[in-house]
Amino acid sequence: MTRPITMSTQKSQTKSITITTLQKMKQQGEKFTCLTAYDYCSAHAASSAGIDVILVGDSLGMVIQGHDSSLPVTIADVAYHIKCAKRGSQNALLMADLPFMSYYAEMKTLESAATLMREGAQIVKLEGGAWLAESTRLLTLHGIPVCAHMGLTPQSVNHLGGYRVQGRDPENAQKIVDEALLLQEAGANLLLLECVPQSLGKHVSETLDIPVIGIGAGADTDGQILVWHDLLGLYPGKPAKFVKNYLQGNPNGIHGAIKAYVDDVKQQRFPAEEHRYN
Ligand code: KIV
Repeated sequence: MTRPITMSTQKSQTKSITITTLQKMKQQGEKFTCLTAYDYCSAHAASSAGIDVILVGDSLGMVIQGHDSSLPVTIADVAYHIKCAKRGSQNALLMADLPFMSYYAEMKTLESAATLMREGAQIVKLEGGAWLAESTRLLTLHGIPVCAHMGLTPQSVNHLGGYRVQGRDPENAQKIVDEALLLQEAGANLLLLECVPQSLGKHVSETLDIPVIGIGAGADTDGQILVWHDLLGLYPGKPAKFVKNYLQGNPNGIHGAIKAYVDDVKQQRFPAEEHRYN
């Protein structure tokens, strides 16, 4: 068992990442990095390797709990993992997913978000478009930063008919742009855009003032995110097109793999052509 003395929960001297930091990085054209993590050691490794944003995502339903979707995840599940990840997240900005049905009404949204913020989250993420404008406004008025999640929204997998690329036709692409603008206007601080053609990822990132994080959204978003288990090639089955296994062939193990991902994003080598939807 590792002695805690070697893995401090204290923040290092490096400055903490905030939404203002990410906003400045966008303005300066500097790419930022995000990674999911669900416990102390993975959050510590991610932050030590220079990850800017750690997401305790509801993907934990699949990669930690073994379900076939994120739908069974509860607020109590996310709260538990936020508590664990918080102790290791050091200077990274800690983002928490509001899970399925934890934000179906405005009061419910505020209560759910408050639970996660009390456990250490610094920003909450909600999946959806225009219908979340009022909740976004209320959350930010109450001092809770918001990351909107658009494009492929896995909590709606049954409604979408599967994990499919979104915004392929002009009408749907325009809807994503319009609703993203609406959420920005309502106060959203970040946007996560999942599985859209790279031209749409570029257009949304250039149109919005707030930083845009992409996953399967091409190389032109302001930041990139990957799921921990995908980055390390741990999730069984065929990986999605946008996934890169950074552990494979890396002589420096898990820490080396995360650092390679950070370097690739900063140098705009990831996502490469083969990870993009055209
Ligand atoms: O839950 C999750 O891990 C996500 C991904 C898009 C990163 O939301």
